[in-house]
Amino acid sequence: DWTSESFVEQTVASLRKRLGNDKVVMALSGGVDSTVAATLVHQAIGANLYCIFVDNGLLRKDEFEEVLHSYQNMGLNIKGVDSKEHFYQALSGLTDPESKRKAIGKSFIDIFDQEAHLIEEVKWLGQGTIYPDVIESVSVKGPSATIKSHHNVGGLPDFMKLKIVEPLNTLFKDEVRAVGRTLGIDEKILGRHPFPGPGLAIRILGDITPEKVAILQDVDAIFIGGLRKWNLYKDVWQAGAMLLPVQSVGVMGDERTYESVVALRAVTSIDGMTADWAHLPYEFLAEVSNDIINRVKGVNRVVYDISSKPPATIEWE
Ligand code: XMP
Repeated sequence: DWTSESFVEQTVASLRKRLGNDKVVMALSGGVDSTVAATLVHQAIGANLYCIFVDNGLLRKDEFEEVLHSYQNMGLNIKGVDSKEHFYQALSGLTDPESKRKAIGKSFIDIFDQEAHLIEEVKWLGQGTIYPDVIESVSVKGPSATIKSHHNVGGLPDFMKLKIVEPLNTLFKDEVRAVGRTLGIDEKILGRHPFPGPGLAIRILGDITPEKVAILQDVDAIFIGGLRKWNLYKDVWQAGAMLLPVQSVGVMGDERTYESVVALRAVTSIDGMTADWAHLPYEFLAEVSNDIINRVKGVNRVVYDISSKPPATIEWE
């Protein structure tokens, strides 16, 4: 019978044998899959695993620093790369969702290729691919898939010539979490909601600016912080805020305001393929809405998305 303990033991032993003294490079996202995969490879080969964590400027508030810190605490050989400007430049003026995704995918490959080149004689590319990613050819999840769907853009980057190691490619998500627990990975990482690879770029409708990112990060932090505070975080499958390219009239004191609208989205789901909007308590929504409007400059109206998937998708772009 499958147990996470025997999986860890066998996988670490076989990775050790297969990789020997070779170097492996891996991009980490802060998500469950890449973190668990990296921890397994790290147990097998230690500092010969070179991890790269890219700040694309589209992460949640303070997430880059926090996640980088936990990776360091886990003893991983991790390099944080601040590429915010590169991504903002690539996104500048783009409004079409697919164009934004392409620009982000290409930027990620450029940065990763550049970083992989700095590691001498690296032979392997580690990936957090899990079984559903293997069987679902249209999967759009995680940096691994981003690499696959864009590897034919402008010729093959050098890291694509690396041999691939995917220690989780036979596991389902709940098994990955069980393996993560056996490895002693922080519950905060294992219990995380899914977060899209293109990050906040597909939650800012229209063009991306660093100012809009900062506004949305503040809104999102209040929403997610509220879910944790009200002990609702675990009850929803995924949650986030959308910054709409719409301004509406409001009143503050005796001043008329004309500011942005944000939409909050929280869903329940098993696998993300279908989803229902989460029936969150009105008292919770009232508190979060007040906090957002009082504390985030530039936002004067909050709406809650009550659409299910299908036909509405989870992300608005
Ligand atoms: P939708 O919006 O299609 O999302 O209902 C389903 C799940 O996939 C995530 N998602 C993405 N993940 N790159 C990703 O890595 C993407 O381009 C992307 N688009 C959507 C979404 O957050 C949800 O978990």
